[in-house]
This record gives sequence, structure tokens and C-alpha cells, in this order.
Amino acid sequence: MVNVALPKGRLGEKVYDLFEKAGFDCAEMHDKGRKLIFENPEKGIRYFWVKPSDVPIYVERGVADLGIAGKDILLERHPEVYELLDLKLGICRMCAAAMRDFYDDGEKTLRVATEFVNIASDYYAKQGRDIDIIKLHGSVELAPILGLSDVIVDIVETGNSLRENDLVIVDEILPISARLIANKANFKFKTKEIKNIINLMKEQVENNY
Ligand code: PRP
Repeated sequence: MVNVALPKGRLGEKVYDLFEKAGFDCAEMHDKGRKLIFENPEKGIRYFWVKPSDVPIYVERGVADLGIAGKDILLERHPEVYELLDLKLGICRMCAAAMRDFYDDGEKTLRVATEFVNIASDYYAKQGRDIDIIKLHGSVELAPILGLSDVIVDIVETGNSLRENDLVIVDEILPISARLIANKANFKFKTKEIKNIINLMKEQVENNY
């Protein structure tokens, strides 16, 4: 059995569709209950729904052989896992944004509010910019509006969150998408099964599903 940690939510639903089209269906997955584990013994697959940011933990610890995590989480946490495939889903950008009228003279320490402390620190360190990081856990757009920070570093997908809060992108930091990841030791034990999954998933990705 190959154990797969799927990120709960819209991205996870899309990822499951991809697994289904690749031949790893599990009929019960469409039930909208609270159950978190589903398996199809005939196809040799078991799925868990986990909080998206927890996926690398399940995979790193080996209770999931495979998982799907955003490149943002992988770059932020550097989990000890193999990154196997770009699923070309959950496409967005990591950006720095500020109030429309913000002007950075480059002299003062820049106050940066973000959930992505490491990504933001690396980005500004490469620019030699002195920053003060303010770690938040959501609703990051509030920070510049209330004067808690000068800029935010956050994910931008449609751009609606920025627009509706009168913020504008000042820098594009990284492109982000969902990645298929694997536990390193389990990959060795289940190489044949996992490679089969990768190949079938790759076909789906290349054919745009
Ligand atoms: C993420 C991100 C932005 C928003 C970007 O937040 O932090 O707020 O999505 O998407 P958009 O460009 O399509 O508006 P999420 O919905 O995960 O909630 P959060 O504020 O709790 O982080």
C-alpha cells in the first residue's frame, strides 16, 4: 500500500482528481463526511487528508510515503524529503507588497510582516537589505494598513486580497506550485510502486489532465 498525504481543501481536491485520472481512484473520497483516511486496496493506495502545512511532517516522518506540498512550504521549511514532480497545480507567486503610496528609500530597516520568515529573510539578505521580520499566521494584508509593517511577503494567486486591501506588488520573489514529495527511506522500499505513480501522474500533468 502506498500512503499519500493530501492537503485538505481546494488544492487537495484537484490533486485527488489527478490521482483518480492517473488510475488511483478511491470512490469513498467523494463522500463529504469528516473521515480522514480512505483506501482502495485493489489499487494499493491509501489517502489521508491533512492540514496543507502539515503535509511535509507526515512525509518526513514516513507515515505517508508521498505527499503534496506547495513549493512555498518546501522552501520555508526545507524538509528532508524527495521532491519528485511539479504538478502544475496551485500556481501562484510569492511577492512583496506594500501600500500604494509606500516609498522605500532603502535607508531605514524595512519592517516585513510574513508567515514565510525564511523565504523573506533569504530574499532580503541576497539584496543586502536590513529587515525587521514580524511573523504572522494569516491576514497578513492587515499589517501595512495598520502600520505594523512597511511591506508584506505573501502568496498572490488572483491578486484579489491585495486589491481589496489597496496593496500593490513591489517585488515578485518566486513562482510557486504544488509538488509531489516522497519520504526518502520509503522511496527505497517502495521504488517500483512509487515510480509507477510518478510516471502515470507525469502523463496526466503533461497532457494537462
Ligand atoms: C492566501 C494568502 C493571501 C491570499 C492570496 O491566504 O495569504 O492572503 O491567499 O490569494 P489571492 O491573490 O487569490 O487573493 P489564505 O486564503 O491561505 O488565508 P490566510 O490569510 O489565512 O493566510
